Amino acid sequence: MDDADDAISELSAVPGRLTDELTVRHPVPADHARLQVALAGWWGGLGGQAGAPQRQLLVPRLFLQHFAGTSFLVERPDGTLHAFLIGFLSQTDPDTAYIHFAGVCPDGKRGGVGSALYRRFFALAREAGRTRVRCITSPDNRDSIAYHTRMGFRLEPGDRTGDDGVPVHADYDGPGLDRVSFVREL
Ligand SMILES: CC(C)(COP(=O)(O)OP(=O)(O)OC[C@H]1O[C@@H](n2cnc3c(N)ncnc32)[C@H](O)[C@@H]1OP(=O)(O)O)[C@@H](O)C(=O)NCCC(=O)NCCS
Repeated sequence: MDDADDAISELSAVPGRLTDELTVRHPVPADHARLQVALAGWWGGLGGQAGAPQRQLLVPRLFLQHFAGTSFLVERPDGTLHAFLIGFLSQTDPDTAYIHFAGVCPDGKRGGVGSALYRRFFALAREAGRTRVRCITSPDNRDSIAYHTRMGFRLEPGDRTGDDGVPVHADYDGPGLDRVSFVREL
């Protein structure tokens, strides 16, 4: 960690503040429309024409109604959306927390905000007694694979090996919807 990371991690403990410029809060249902815009625009065209509607359908309003307390939204001073994390505590496995979706706006990437949100979620999950966190991503999302590896996640064995030697779970979420699965101990 460098000094900038230290500053962010210290500030991430302060309610309402993420950095001097950015504030963090739990989302509300009225945030749904702008999250949908972010899901279409922040992934750099990943998945082609089908990618944006697939991502949008993966974050329906219910997450902002029923999982808001374990999800975060980051705003700039002018109120525009800077980043978000949608997560929850597993109802089925009392040891597990799950990060469903996270994104940082294109000009905010590599600024420590993604990791600050993840650390905040890790702390919340630990406080709730969870001992591991899981998430998945697409095999072609190389940035996400690199980021999650850097954040201490390990890739779970798959049923085939993809590009770059990544273990892939074929048809994980339906025909043609392959996924890479991550787990990290807390
Ligand atoms: C993935 C994402 C959430 C990461 O957030 P971020 O704010 O850019 O990441 P951070 O700046 O906190 O980086 C944390 C660490 O991961 C590394 N990292 C981040 N993106 C990386 C990338 N594309 N390749 C390699 N390393 C990366 C950083 O260098 C940093 O490592 P360091 O501590 O050694 O400096 C963000 O880039 C994003 O929104 N991407 C598009 C959407 C997406 O793929 N979301 C994840 C799947 S749902």
